[in-house]
Parts: sequence; structure tokens; C-alpha cells
Amino acid sequence: MEPGDLFVTAGACCALDLLCTQYTQPGDLIFVEQPSYFLALRIFEDHGLRVVSIPMDDDGMRIDELEGKLAELRPKFIYTIPTFQNPSGRTLSQARREKLVELAQQYDFLVVADEVYHFLAYSQTPPGPFAAFADHVEQVVSVNSFSKILAPGLRLGWIQAHEEIIKRLSVSGLLESGGGMNPYTSALVRGLIESGGLEENIARLRREYAGRLNALEAALRQHLPTAEYTIPQGGFFFWVHLPGVDGTELRRKAQEYKVDLRQGELFSSREEMKDYLRLSFSFYGPEAIEEGVKRLRDCLANY
Ligand SMILES: Cc1ncc(COP(=O)(O)O)c(C=O)c1O
Repeated sequence: MEPGDLFVTAGACCALDLLCTQYTQPGDLIFVEQPSYFLALRIFEDHGLRVVSIPMDDDGMRIDELEGKLAELRPKFIYTIPTFQNPSGRTLSQARREKLVELAQQYDFLVVADEVYHFLAYSQTPPGPFAAFADHVEQVVSVNSFSKILAPGLRLGWIQAHEEIIKRLSVSGLLESGGGMNPYTSALVRGLIESGGLEENIARLRREYAGRLNALEAALRQHLPTAEYTIPQGGFFFWVHLPGVDGTELRRKAQEYKVDLRQGELFSSREEMKDYLRLSFSFYGPEAIEEGVKRLRDCLANY
């Protein structure tokens, strides 16, 4: 990795916004996964982009479906959350990563890989990040952030990409006027990285979150046996399928039980996935997690 391949941002969302500004015009086409992070979808909407979604399976984005779409459409970029995806928890396999990069080179589109959960692995080491392609492939942009491994309020993240991409991102009025996106905080965090404090924090988070993941899995097994899900290997989320249950309606009703969730539909650019829920285990400890699942059970009993 060379310093010229790195670019400091004010978080992953800011990086996505900047990439949209520099690489797209309103009306341009992009591809996303179905499901995908709902606030990234909002950023793409803010930029007036047309979004086509590619279905996923347990190995992440379906590359056969992608190839089918590429036969007729040319996206400006593909947005993927390749590791411990928000919301599905899925991870793109190594073989599919390589194929995706090959297709990006062949059809000349960017792969924007949002890798914010890459370091939060609990039971399985994920394939290498897209950042590893960045120095030799001009079509790959790896977006990352300190939000999940340190604190979201810092508003600090980074892009790792080929130096040609970094040059293009750097020449903007926004950057030149501000002298960088978050220089003060980045200097503070640099000290933490150099002292080994960040690594220690990541190790602590991985231990803590692994316990919370197990607590949510045990509670779902015990209290919501009809829920269908795959146990995630990292990240923050369970993507739960409850056939026949409308997530939006359930969320509204869940307020009475003082428990919250995100309805699946939010994560679809096509208003689908209505009977999915995203449950997060990152914020509360094991006891509160179990209590939350019990409240959801009670809410469902009266649904
Ligand atoms: C996939 C994904 N990208 C980006 C973000 C936001 O990151 P940041 O706080 O660095 O803007 C989140 C936070 O939930 C996320 O899940």
C-alpha cells in the first residue's frame, strides 16, 4: 500500500457522496445488491441515480445475475457491501470477488466496496478485502470507516483506491477549500493507531460482539422458533425472514412493546422484502437482547 492510494474522509457515507459527485450525473445508472444499506440507497437517490438491484444468496451478490444485467446495461458503478453485509450479514466469496473485479475491468465500471464491517469478524476470517486490489486495479474503490471500530461520532473514514482515483477525488473545491475532510480528528486517531490502541479496541469489540451475537441467536431459537435466518459470522445484524409478516406493520406495532427493528422493505430499491426484518445486536448487552426478543415474540403473538 502506498500513501498515494489513501484518502481521508468524514466517514463512509461522506465517501459515497463524494464518489457520486465525482463519478456520476443525475439519471446515471448504478447497480446495488438486493438487499442493501438503506441510507446508501438514500444517498444514491439524493444524487438522482437510477438503481438496479442484483439478488444475493448465501455467498453474496449473484454474479450470474450480474452478468445477465451487464449484457444489456452499463452501470457507472456497482455498490457492494462485501463482508458481513448490512443488512443480510452475508459475505461475498473469494471466487465471486475475483470475478467481480474481472467484470469491472472488462466492462469498465467501478466497484465501490463498502468494507466497514471487514474488521468485525467473530467466528470466521473473511476473504481478503477489496482494498487489496486497489493499488493495481483502477476500477476498485474500497470505502472504510472508524465508525464501527472506534466511534461513529468521530466522522472519520478512508478510501483506498488506485492513485488515479484518489487524484480525481482530491481535485474538488470542497477539498481544496477545507484542506481535507476531517484533519483534526484524523490527527487524533493517528496517535491511537500508532500506539496500538485501535487494534486493542477492535479485539475487545470482537469479543464483546461475539457474545451479543450468540445471545441474539439463542434468544431467537428459544423465543421465535419460526424465524428463518442464517447465523452471521461477523458484523452487526441478523436478517430474519418471517413469511407472511409485514415488517412495516410489525415495526409500528412493536413500538407499543418498546422494542425496535428495521423492516426489510427499507433495504430494497424495489419496495420488496416486506417480510424480512433486520435485527441488530451491536448496541445492547445479552440480557437486554433476550428481553427485546421476548417483546417481539409477544408483539407477534398479537399481530
Ligand atoms: C454499510 C454501511 N456503510 C456506511 C455506514 C455509515 O458509516 P459512516 O458512519 O462511516 O458514515 C454504515 C452504518 O451503519 C453501514 O452499515
